[in-house]
Amino acid sequence: MTAAATNRIAVVTGASSGIGAATARQLATAGYRVVLTARRKDRIEALAEELTTAGHQATAYPLDVTDRAAVDEFATAFRKIHVLVNNAGGALGADPIATSDPADWRQMYETNVIGTLNLTQALLPALTASEDGTVVILSSTAGHGTYENGGGYVAAKHGAHVLAETLRLEIVGTPVRVIEIAPGMVKTEEFATTRFNGDTAKAAKVYEGVAAPLTADDVAETITWAVSRPSHVNIDLLVVRPRAQASNTKVHREL
Ligand SMILES: NC(=O)c1ccc[n+]([C@@H]2O[C@H](COP(=O)([O-])OP(=O)(O)OC[C@H]3O[C@@H](n4cnc5c(N)ncnc54)[C@H](OP(=O)(O)O)[C@@H]3O)[C@@H](O)[C@H]2O)c1
Repeated sequence: MTAAATNRIAVVTGASSGIGAATARQLATAGYRVVLTARRKDRIEALAEELTTAGHQATAYPLDVTDRAAVDEFATAFRKIHVLVNNAGGALGADPIATSDPADWRQMYETNVIGTLNLTQALLPALTASEDGTVVILSSTAGHGTYENGGGYVAAKHGAHVLAETLRLEIVGTPVRVIEIAPGMVKTEEFATTRFNGDTAKAAKVYEGVAAPLTADDVAETITWAVSRPSHVNIDLLVVRPRAQASNTKVHREL
């Protein structure tokens, strides 16, 4: 059985906004000592303070997941950790293959795949040493099917999915499980705005007419549920979408 969350450490990447911040809040409330990482120091420090003031255990550690030397340095702080939530990532651009920017593709691969690889490799010894570790990988429904004008993000999230599947095969028999969470449409403050390079009008179109996209809290609850199953239970893959979304391309809009 999973030990009580108290004294268990959970590292959350991309904890400065959206799903990562919501997950850090919910894991802290569940009793984990949460370690918040992201590039924006001010945001993770403010969240750590909010959680500490509320009586939870939280620390902030500024980190770019694509910087392997910094990730290795971060990992030296831990002898044991219990949960790693690889959430940092996102989409850049929404252009057809014919005209999309290779720099966007490269950056999406770096963040969503290499970033996850970096943290997972660096923290696997500490996850194993806990004798009850969980690696969570936030892929996406974009990791399971394609859609027009999403090729770069779809390719990167397929990479994250493959990382999860392969790692699970390779470490079976060790006390570490691998959980992939694949959300569909989640309305977070920054995801679509980042994708459209700050164009809030284009970002708003993504959710236009959708009665109830998922929220960051919905996904955080899903992650918290999955990691709090008894240790022998591995939720390999959990796909979660809003009711209004039947596939990546079939979304009900009330316009
Ligand atoms: N929103 C959706 O519809 C949706 C659906 C499926 C899957 N997802 C996935 O869920 C995850 C979170 O998405 P979200 O909606 O919460 O988006 P978000 O609010 O834009 O969050 C992205 C997070 O990633 C961090 N990040 C980006 N690049 C980083 C880097 N190089 N190093 C460290 N941190 C980095 C950002 O923090 P800093 O900028 O402070 O570094 C931010 O905290 C992403 O992997 C996304 O692809 C989202």
